Amino acid sequence: MSAVKQSQYPVDGLPEIALAGRSNVGKSSLTNALLNRRNFARTSSTPGKTRTINFYLINKEFFFVDLPGYGYAKVAKSEKDKWGEIMERYLSDRDELCAIFLLVDIRHEPTNDDKMMYDWIKHFGYDCVVIATKADKISRGQYQKHMSIIRKKLQMEKDEKIIPVSSSKKTGIEELWNTIVEQYQK
Ligand code: GTP
Ligand code: MG
Repeated sequence: MSAVKQSQYPVDGLPEIALAGRSNVGKSSLTNALLNRRNFARTSSTPGKTRTINFYLINKEFFFVDLPGYGYAKVAKSEKDKWGEIMERYLSDRDELCAIFLLVDIRHEPTNDDKMMYDWIKHFGYDCVVIATKADKISRGQYQKHMSIIRKKLQMEKDEKIIPVSSSKKTGIEELWNTIVEQYQK
């Protein structure tokens, strides 16, 4: 189900978990990996693929929400404003939303936009699990170093989790599912 305005959101009242992050960070790919589907959520090597809020009903129990990405420089300002509005309306006023997962690329220090998103998630009192994507691009021995760079830039609290995942190699997906089950059963 796709939405750009409130009247198009699902009305089932089921809990929702949203995936947020920069364009091209791998939100749609992760949606597919979690669902074990190939191109259910449409992905692209060109940033700005997802332009609507996409709701995926899981087991008739909850929704995964694949959001449009932010921070992509080549998108026209008018288009950016439009996505910003779509996202802000959803994120700031949605009772069903119970957790927001923030995706960042494991290879790079989070951007100021990422930090803003993180602060915003906390400000509105959502649980924030940080997911470090594209983990296949670095060796396992480098995970800790990269994760502490992410932790530092976002100024994460000690008890908050970073989960490294690779949607292409399907690593970290099970741990992420366990976290989802925990969050969801709260
Ligand atoms: P927008 O819809 O533009 O916001 O992007 P998105 O965050 O949904 O990114 P998407 O899932 O479309 O992936 C962007 C690119 O990254 C694609 O070329 C994917 O194949 C690639 N990608 C995604 N996840 C991984 C991963 O785990 N490993 C590697 N190596 N590439 C990945
Ligand atoms: Mg996408």
